[in-house]
Amino acid sequence: MLKKWFGKTETLPLNESFEERVQQATEHTVPTHIAIIMDGNGRWAKKRNLPRVAGHHEGMKTVRKITRFADRLGVKALTVYAFSTENWKRPRTEVEFIMKLPQEFLGDFLPEMIERNIRVETIGEPEQLPAHTRKSLAEAMEATKHNTGLVLTFALNYGSRAEIIQATQKIAQAVQAGELRVEDITEQTMNEALMTASLPEPELLIRTSGEVRLSNFMLWQLAYTEFFFTDINWPDFSEEHLLEAVESFQGRDRRFGGLKGGEA
Ligand code: FPP
Repeated sequence: MLKKWFGKTETLPLNESFEERVQQATEHTVPTHIAIIMDGNGRWAKKRNLPRVAGHHEGMKTVRKITRFADRLGVKALTVYAFSTENWKRPRTEVEFIMKLPQEFLGDFLPEMIERNIRVETIGEPEQLPAHTRKSLAEAMEATKHNTGLVLTFALNYGSRAEIIQATQKIAQAVQAGELRVEDITEQTMNEALMTASLPEPELLIRTSGEVRLSNFMLWQLAYTEFFFTDINWPDFSEEHLLEAVESFQGRDRRFGGLKGGEA
């Protein structure tokens, strides 16, 4: 592009290259923990006259691609909402298909995750998951438990209200047992009772496919999180889209209820 600037004609690049943008992003504060509501798999498939499950399968590949790229950006934790407590209402064949995905995902990707020092975790109620799903997740968690790099957490059979109720019950039991005084209950008590106890709070939440709601995802944990909504369906979500979300995060003014730096 030719641009007149102070009388001089200069050649400027049309767009910064992707690699330059990655470089710049990593020189600024990258969100420590990114949480993603992966939505739009069904619509992605429908647009292509494919069955809905084809969208979930493609969505699984996107998880792999985005995990790699998040790792490259220096993200420490990535939490993906793979199956909510409400998703059991879907047709049985679709539920069964989704429940087989961890096995395929981990079968292909586990060696690479081990090499990349990635740790696999889950949040949600495991009891109702099929045995084969629990088994592959348990094997992956065991094989990566000493890894110290990015933590990839699958939210499976996860619902935030149920999680908060469960945490409240734990706290109430501790009070009942005389281990905790009511007046000593703090935000930290709650943080430690939640399924996300070992994770930092998400700094960035992404939801794909144009839906603008939380759908019972991490309601307590997202209190001060920055939100990024995009119309892109999850199977089409690329490295460049994640970079765009991170760049958007880096342009935000996070005040946590206070004032801008330096303002009185
Ligand atoms: C929402 O899209 C997506 C889901 C309920 C399933 C998400 C699961 C994956 C992306 C695969 C996860 C991978 C592993 C390894 C578990 P939707 O079906 O609601 O889309 P729609 O709104 O367009 O119908």
